[in-house]
Amino acid sequence: MAFSKQFSFWVIFAMALTMANASGYYGSKLSTDYYTESCPDLLEISKYITKEFVKNDPRFAPGLLRMIFHDCIVRGCDASLLLDPTPSNNQTEKDTVPNSTLRGFEVINAIKAKLEEKCPDVVSCADVLALASRDAVVAINGPNWDVPLGRKDGKISLASEALAKIPSPFANITTLKKNFADVGLTPKELAILSGAHTIGDGHCFIIQNRLYNFTGKGDTDPAIEKSYADYLKTKCPPNTGNLQSSVGMDFFTPGKFDEVYYGMVTQRKGLFQSDAALLNDPETSFYVHFQAYSGGSTFAQDFGAAMTRLIQIGVLTDNEGEVRKTCGAVRYNY
Ligand code: HEM
Repeated sequence: MAFSKQFSFWVIFAMALTMANASGYYGSKLSTDYYTESCPDLLEISKYITKEFVKNDPRFAPGLLRMIFHDCIVRGCDASLLLDPTPSNNQTEKDTVPNSTLRGFEVINAIKAKLEEKCPDVVSCADVLALASRDAVVAINGPNWDVPLGRKDGKISLASEALAKIPSPFANITTLKKNFADVGLTPKELAILSGAHTIGDGHCFIIQNRLYNFTGKGDTDPAIEKSYADYLKTKCPPNTGNLQSSVGMDFFTPGKFDEVYYGMVTQRKGLFQSDAALLNDPETSFYVHFQAYSGGSTFAQDFGAAMTRLIQIGVLTDNEGEVRKTCGAVRYNY
């Protein structure tokens, strides 16, 4: 009798676990089927519109991937990054140097506009950004990952917070690890997510000092391999301060989501000090070397898992936030 009671308990427990898994429950309040009834076409709309934009300009893929990171690391994934300045707050997260070169706001706005036609007032901008960033990476044949949904949009966006929280390309490994730990991400996830620099560009103005005046004596950062520094100098002549000049962060396969970035970092060909810094910690350095030498054996899988965690940082749910009508403006001011 006692045995059969115990047995039934475990059967029910196992069934509950399976059901929780099948319904996409992640231990947070988010769920992959959050909009199944309220906006059944959401996933298709996001995928279709994002794919069209990326087809016309593949640079939207890195742009949107960077955008979700910059949103989530400041106040959590609450679309605070998307808010435009207002008379009462003329300096939002958007108005900062790190966010000045983001690409893809038009993709988010196009998806949101279509959703407002199909299922008005239902899907948050935070969820649109989480989906579009995944769909954009998939559109360039990059890794896929689960996107649990149900985020609400925040109402506060401060330039000062973006400046304090978004990691600097000049940061050392201690600061980078702290930036990530502050939002619950591990050093290994720092190494994994930095692999996003396998796609996209860096602007020349960011590496001017690294190339031409590293210690204020007209020198080059000795951490850059000599031939790579020479190459970068041809791409970024002295005093390239404008936003026109940029260089692929992954020199060999800039449009392909692969592990080549890690090989470059091991060869001292990381574009930013923050990339090179991954070699200065046993755990991050181990990961970089492992991916470089194993041909990226687990990179796509690791990246997807880390993204599913990144996009759940500090989310607002239920009454903690709202669903904006347009992504650039809060809906209600209480
Ligand atoms: C570890 C700390 C990080 C630092 C210091 C950093 C810094 C930067 C900088 C300075 C750029 C160049 C921006 C420009 O010149 O316009 C850049 C580009 C980029 N970053 Fe990061 N990043 C970091 C982590 C991440 C993470 C975690 C992701 C995503 C998961 C990411 C995704 C990207 C992408 C995709 C680009 C290319 C953007 C484009 O071409 O439009 N970065 N990053």
